[in-house]
This record gives sequence, C-alpha cells and structure tokens, in this order.
Amino acid sequence: MTPQEHLAELERRAELGGGEERLRRQREGGKLTARERVDLLFDSGTFEELDKLVTHRCRDFGMEKELVPGDGVVAGHGRVDGRPVYAFAQDFTVFGGSLSETNAAKIVKVMDLAMKMGAPVVGLNDSGGARIQEGVVSLAGYADIFLRNTLASGVVPQISAIMGPCAGGAVYSPAITDFNIMVEGTSYMFVTGPDVIKTVTHEDVTKEALGGAMAHNATSGVAHFAVPSDRECILLIRELLRYLPSNNLDGAPRVATTDPVDREDAALDALVPEQPNQPYDMHDLIHAVVDDGRFLEVHQYFAQNIICGFARLGSRSVGIVANQPKVLAGCLDIDASVKAARFVRFCDAFNIPIITFEDVPGFLPGVRQEHGGIIRAGAKLLYAYAEATVPKITVITRKAYGGAYCVMASKHIRTDFNFAYPMAEIAVMGPEGAVNILYRRELQQAEDPAAKRAELTQEFREKLANPFVAASRGYVDEVIAPRMTRAKLIAALASCDNKRDKNPPKKHGNIPL
Ligand code: HXC
Repeated sequence: MTPQEHLAELERRAELGGGEERLRRQREGGKLTARERVDLLFDSGTFEELDKLVTHRCRDFGMEKELVPGDGVVAGHGRVDGRPVYAFAQDFTVFGGSLSETNAAKIVKVMDLAMKMGAPVVGLNDSGGARIQEGVVSLAGYADIFLRNTLASGVVPQISAIMGPCAGGAVYSPAITDFNIMVEGTSYMFVTGPDVIKTVTHEDVTKEALGGAMAHNATSGVAHFAVPSDRECILLIRELLRYLPSNNLDGAPRVATTDPVDREDAALDALVPEQPNQPYDMHDLIHAVVDDGRFLEVHQYFAQNIICGFARLGSRSVGIVANQPKVLAGCLDIDASVKAARFVRFCDAFNIPIITFEDVPGFLPGVRQEHGGIIRAGAKLLYAYAEATVPKITVITRKAYGGAYCVMASKHIRTDFNFAYPMAEIAVMGPEGAVNILYRRELQQAEDPAAKRAELTQEFREKLANPFVAASRGYVDEVIAPRMTRAKLIAALASCDNKRDKNPPKKHGNIPL
C-alpha cells in the first residue's frame, strides 16, 4: 500500500465512524450523523477537520482490536456566515460517542485554539458519557474540558447542543457554557437516570419526563432552547451566532436593515391598557420596536414572567430584558431573577447593549418565594445589572414599584438612558396598597370607606404614581410617547457607540450565587 493509499484507507474508516449498520440506526432514530451535523453547521465547504486519524490508547477489554480513526468525535474549525467558529461533534456510532482520553484531548485542542483565536466554540453532544473501559483516564478528560469551559467563559461564546444522551457528570460541560439547545424527543440530560432514581427514592419517571427537552426548557431552566429536529438545532446555532461577537474584545456584527430608524408606530400608544391591572403582551412591544420585528427569544418556556432575548436596533445587536405583565402580572420571582441575571451577565461579557422594558409590580410575595431564597435570587439580578458596563437603556412602560424599580436597570445603577411612558407609575408601591397603609385609620372612620379609598387612591396616583416626579429629579431622562420608542432607543444606542465604563480593579466580585 502506498502512503497515499494508506491515508485514503484511514480517512475512509474515519468517515465510516462506527460502521454502516450503526450509522443506519442513528438515522432511523431521527438523528443526523456527527459529520452531517458538522456539514450543516458550517458555511459550505469551509470545515477543516483536525485529528481525524487519532485513535484511543486503551489496551484493556479487547479494545486494541477496535481502533476507529477519529475515536468518536469530529473536531475542527470552519466559517459561519464568514466568521471563524470551532466545533466538535460527538459520534454516537463509535463506542456510543463516549469520552476517551484521546477523544477528550481533541475537544480540548479545539477549545484551546478557539480561545487563542478569539472564536466561538460549538459542542454537539451525543454521548454515553465517560468511556467505561478507560476508567479514571476518561474522567480526567472530562475535568480537562470543564476547566476549559470555565476559562473560556466570558472570553468566547460557548454554545452546546444536546442531540442525544448527556448523562452523569458529562452534563456539567454544557451547564457551564452560555446556551444549551435540546432536540425534542431524542435528547436528554440528567445527573442520575431513572434506574438510579427508582432505587434510591422509589420514584418512577421516564427519561423524557426526567431530562427531556421540555423538562429542561420549562421546568429546570437548564436548557435555553427546544427544537423539533437536528436540522433546526443547527440552523438555530447559526442564527444565534449572528447576534454575537466572536469574542469579548469584539463587537457583534451589524446586520443591514431597511427598517427606518425613526419609524413610529401609532398602535403602541394604545398597547398599555389604561386599567393598571389589565395585562398585555410585552412581546407585542418588542416585535413592534426592533428591526424587522425579529426577536430571538432565549429561555422562552422558563420563567415566562420575564422575557429575555436578542434583537437588533438600527442594525446593532441588543439583549432585551422585559417584564411580562401577562404572566404573574410581571412580578419578579426566583426563576425570573436568575434567568434575567444570567442573560444580563452574558450580554455584559460580550459587549451587547441591554435594553430593558419595565412593567413590574414588585417581587412575588409568598412563603415559598421567601424560603426559596428570593432575597438571594433578586440580589443576583440587581448585582448583574449594577455590575454591567455595556450600554444600558430602560423604558418604563407602566409599573416600576419598590425594590424592583431599583433592580430593573434604574438610573441609580448606572443606566445610561431611562425613558418612561406618560402613564408610567413609579412609586414605592401601588396606590391601593399605599393608601391602605397610610390611611388605615381614616378609612376605618370614614362614613363611606369605599368612596374615601377611591378618592385617596386617585390623589396618591396623581401625586406620586406617575413618571413626572422621577423626571423632575432626572431619574427619568425623558417621558416619551410610546409610538416614538424605536426612534428614541436607536438614537440613545447610537450615542453609546464609544461608551467607556469600568468596575474597580478586583480579582472578581462575589455575586450572591
Ligand atoms: C463505552 C459505551 C458507553 C460508554 C455506550 N457505549 N455508552 N461504550 N462507554 N459510556 C456503547 C455501547 O456499548 C454500544 O456499543 C454503543 O455504545 C451504543 O450503546 P447502546 O446501549 O446500544 O445504545 P442505546 O440503547 O441507545 O443506549 C444509550 C445509553 C446507554 C443510554 C447511553 O448506552 C448507556 O446507558 N450507556 C452508559 C451510560 C453511562 O452510565 N455512562 C457513564 C455515565 S457517568 P455497541 O458496540 O453495542 O454498538 C459519566 C461520568 C462523567 O459519564 C464524569 C464527568 C466528571
């Protein structure tokens, strides 16, 4: 065999992975193969594979006879919309995509290169976990990856797709990365599976109910996106990358739009109902304001009382955080605080300005919330906003009450521009609650307590629950007509292009985790 023939044979075996039969089973299970996933991720013809000929070093359990070039992971780099991206895709057809010493070393290599080159890392996970035959060597491989995930955090964006099993300690690599996308029906994540749970706690649960896509999207919040197929998963990764810079020293790419920067929307003047307790959908405001109505929502199914996601304003990428009056009246609870805090920190780490739409009656009251640690969780969001040095712009659409007023990117925690709609209510608490506390005795003694309460409530609303007191102090820079929201935001954002702000020197802060 000539060297060329030898190489061709090795490459053929690498591309065959675990063989025709296992590839067929992979496809029959509704999954793409590792190579198909990689091809779909990168711009056509740009993928450059590394370590295609690497094999494992295990000599036990007859493993020396089973050498597959590539060793169960396809790794390398390519371009996504012309920008460099590094990726690895675990190949379930080779020892169940399990992580060996050499397979881990391949993943570590692309992560190290991505850090050095300032490029995002995408991990396509589909693995039975630590390669059982290799024991501690495989565990060491995981730890090597966890270290890289941690060091890369805040330096280059890291995106994980869960496209098959992801169990045991293996879950902690995706958990450290910035975004987790799960494919419905074929992916699951758990630290201990249904069998162990049955033995230990006697609970009966299926894999899907325990750790399927919706379990982690809607209940645990471990995953940020759920998609119906491998194809949509990969297309979503490409879409997400378009909103992000390649690294923490870059800006996000600008995407040209024909949507006028000064576009007014008269319908917005009627979006917020006059009745303070009547809900409306904050999505309507977001879609009406951003470029071409395009909004990529993150954590769409989790803590729906707050909305987080990416959009563009005047071609610039922005992160949007918005209270949702339709769910729990937009109150901040534990999950909403944690969800938004992590999103704010991501945007801050990657130079993405934060736009806040605020309509919040306060923190959710209740024993469960207090005992569950709403104080600690709320503090995370406060800390995240206060610490953020990226451009910050807030629009108060209706309620901004109490501590939640301070938390949601108020002027006092270094927000650059604060706007409010004319019907905004900025106060320590809602007028009804305030009147009950301030005028308890008068109300008890009144001939007609209901009429007295209505009169006092109206008086309180006029005196305090409006945007004008805050505007007279400069806490709100401008009271704006809702129809002008887009124009005002884009003008403010444009003025932030050269913003410079920083935090005092420190090793790192101590966010209340
Ligand atoms: C080596 C493995 C493997 C593993 C699967 N395979 N997992 N080989 N190490 N961890 C192999 C199987 O032997 C099989 O080989 C092929 O992959 C496909 O596996 P099947 O069981 O046939 O597939 P399926 O029925 O789809 O079940 C998938 C599975 C199951 C649920 C993932 O294989 C499984 O339970 N695997 C073990 C999972 C596990 O306990 N891993 C360790 C977790 S702890 P053939 O030759 O038949 O095709 C962990 C610690 C991480 O990972 C620590 C980090 C700190």
